This record gives sequence, C-alpha cells and structure tokens, in this order.
Amino acid sequence: MDYREAFEKIVQQQLERIEKMKAADDFIDYSKLDKIIIGVIGGDGIGPAITAHAHKILESLLAEQVAAGKVEFRVIDGLTIERRAALGKAIPDDTLEEIKQCHVLLKGPTTTPRKGDKWGNVESANVAMRKALDLFANVRPVKVPELGIDWTFFRENTECLYAMGSQGLNITDDLAIDFRVITTQGTERIARMAFDYARANGKNRVTIVTKANVVKTTDGKFLEICKQVAKDYPEIEVDDWYIDIMTAKLIDEKRRGQFQVLILPNLYGDILTDEAAEFQGGVGTAGSSNLGKRWSMFEAIHGSAPRMVEEGRDIYADPCSVIRAGAMLLSHIGFQKQADDLYAALDYCTITEKKLVITGRPDGATGAEFADYILDVAGRRPWL
Ligand code: IPM
Ligand code: MG
Repeated sequence: MDYREAFEKIVQQQLERIEKMKAADDFIDYSKLDKIIIGVIGGDGIGPAITAHAHKILESLLAEQVAAGKVEFRVIDGLTIERRAALGKAIPDDTLEEIKQCHVLLKGPTTTPRKGDKWGNVESANVAMRKALDLFANVRPVKVPELGIDWTFFRENTECLYAMGSQGLNITDDLAIDFRVITTQGTERIARMAFDYARANGKNRVTIVTKANVVKTTDGKFLEICKQVAKDYPEIEVDDWYIDIMTAKLIDEKRRGQFQVLILPNLYGDILTDEAAEFQGGVGTAGSSNLGKRWSMFEAIHGSAPRMVEEGRDIYADPCSVIRAGAMLLSHIGFQKQADDLYAALDYCTITEKKLVITGRPDGATGAEFADYILDVAGRRPWL
C-alpha cells in the first residue's frame, strides 16, 4: 500500500476513535447487576498454571455469592500464542466474543510476539485487549511502607506509541516510521480518573510525567490537558516532571516520598511502573488493573516465562502477582471485605510468616501449595 494511503487510514481510524470516546457511556455500576460475570483467561507460558490458582482462591472467597447466583466464573482458554499465531489475530474473534460477555476479567500473562520471531507479526494480545475493550486506565499501585513509598500510577493505556505499535510504515528499505497518538479525550479521561482518585483518597499531590520539552506536539498536548483538568481540583497540588529525571528521582531517597499519584502516557508509564515495582520485590509481585467504562481487566504485570515451562518449572511459578490482581478485582466489583482479607493473607504469607517460600525451582513451594497456604490463612485471619 502506498504510504500516503496507509497514513490516511490511520488518521481516519483515530478520528473515529475520538468520536466513540465522545459518545461513551458512564462507568458500569456493578451493584446494579443481577449477576457479575468474571472471566478467567489463563494466557500462555506459566499463565494457565498461576491463573488457575488465583481462580481457585477467588472462587472460594466468593463461594456464597456463586452459590446464590450473584457471581459466575467463566474460564476462557482460547487466547494462547499458538492459536493467536495460527489465526494471525491478536485476539481470535470467538475469544473476543466470550470476553465481551463478561463484566470483569482476570488474566494471566500472554506472550507478546516480537518482530522476526517464530510467531510472526501478531499484535500483542495485551495491547489489543486494552484497545478492543477500551481499558484506558492502567492503574498500578506500589507500596513499600518502610521506605516511605506509596505511589499510584495512572498509565494511559490506549494511546501513545502503543495505539499503532503494529501499524508502523516501512516507507523504503531504509526508512521506518512509527506513529504516536495523543488525543484530548483520551488524556482528559485518564487525568480525571487520577485526580478523582487523589481527591477520594486524601492525596494532596498529583505528578504529571512527560517529555514535553522535546516531544512537543503529543506530550505538549498531554501536559496541557492534564493541567486544564487540574483546575477542577484546586485543593490538589500539581507538579510536572520529565520522564528522564523522574526515572532518577524514584531512586532518590530524599525525594521519592513526595510522589503520590502519577499520570503518564502509555510508554513512559510502562517503563516507570516496572522500575517502581522493583522496590516492592519486582514485577512478579505486582498486580495491575486495566479499567474502562464497560469492562475491566486485572492481570499480572510480568511476562509468560516460556523458559520455565520448557524446563518443566511452571508448577513452581510464583502466583502472587495474579493473586494480587485478583484482590484488586474483588475490590473493584465491590467485595472489599474479601479483597482486604486476600491482601492481608498475601502480606502474612510473603512477609510475616513465610511458612512456604516460592523460588521458581524445586527447592521452593509449588504454586498449588502456595495457593492452599493463602486460602488457609485467609480463612483463619491470624492477623486479627
Ligand atoms: C505491561 C507489559 C505489556 C505492555 C506488554 C506485555 C505488551 O509490559 O503490561 O506493562 O507493554 O503494556
Ligand atoms: Mg510493561
């Protein structure tokens, strides 16, 4: 295709997306649903193993609601890399249909094919799902009380370089161009969610992170819109930082405690949240929520670790990240008590008591043993 035509198509797609954002409904109200449907997507690599443990835990914590028909779990297993690659689709159509029948989703890691590897040029299932379900807010909390760290990242999840990550153009053999998208509507909704969160949770500072001094058009817009939204929240202090120095300041002991709520475009958010998660024990321990108006998805933030499966070590994979994502899901759909119990059990099992330890190898506990440990502790509540 002529590159001018390709570019025209891209612009058209994005203009249509803006119209959809303008017409979008309000956030779904789970308390008004007769039944909440929770989809469980194993993904691939270690995904199915660790997600099954989290599923078991959630199903047990919600046993009463399941018995009363108020909650239903549905396992969705069509999102493997083999299937995606064979069909040449980031999310197979029938799988997307199943996903859309649910209200919220718990998802294990899905392998992201890279240019030139054996899976072909299939778009990342993560990125595709965030776009298909319009999960615009990637909210990632990182807490390390003993270091004075209590950060909540609001990473924009549908735009930036990821919006068209698989639609870049090789104009000639020598010239490759990717496209970066920032929209008014897309920025406004993530900024509003971050400021609303700050207000509701007594946070008095919101930090906007861009590189607007260099990337003037798109980051310039992102910063400007965030600052406009900030005017509706006069009690909240706002500061803005460039991503390079922000990355440094997260490790500055004197400075990092001042950050509370951070708003970032997609790519910077992707990078900074991995760095941030490292303070609380690495990406294997963090959970992540992908929130939209109609659907929300909760996932582990680490990858699918195919090497662990090849070496037969998937039974030893750490399920904590996807279990934590499960706790976030419980809280999001209104089961705060169950969520609190699960968070407390995670802390008790991984920090306080540590009767079983996961090492990823046969010298540690299996994921199944660990899940039983969590369930037992959540039932006994020894922290009370
Ligand atoms: C994440 C992951 C994904 C992303 C990948 C797997 C596409 O790194 O959730 O942070 O880049 O968003
Ligand atoms: Mg990432």
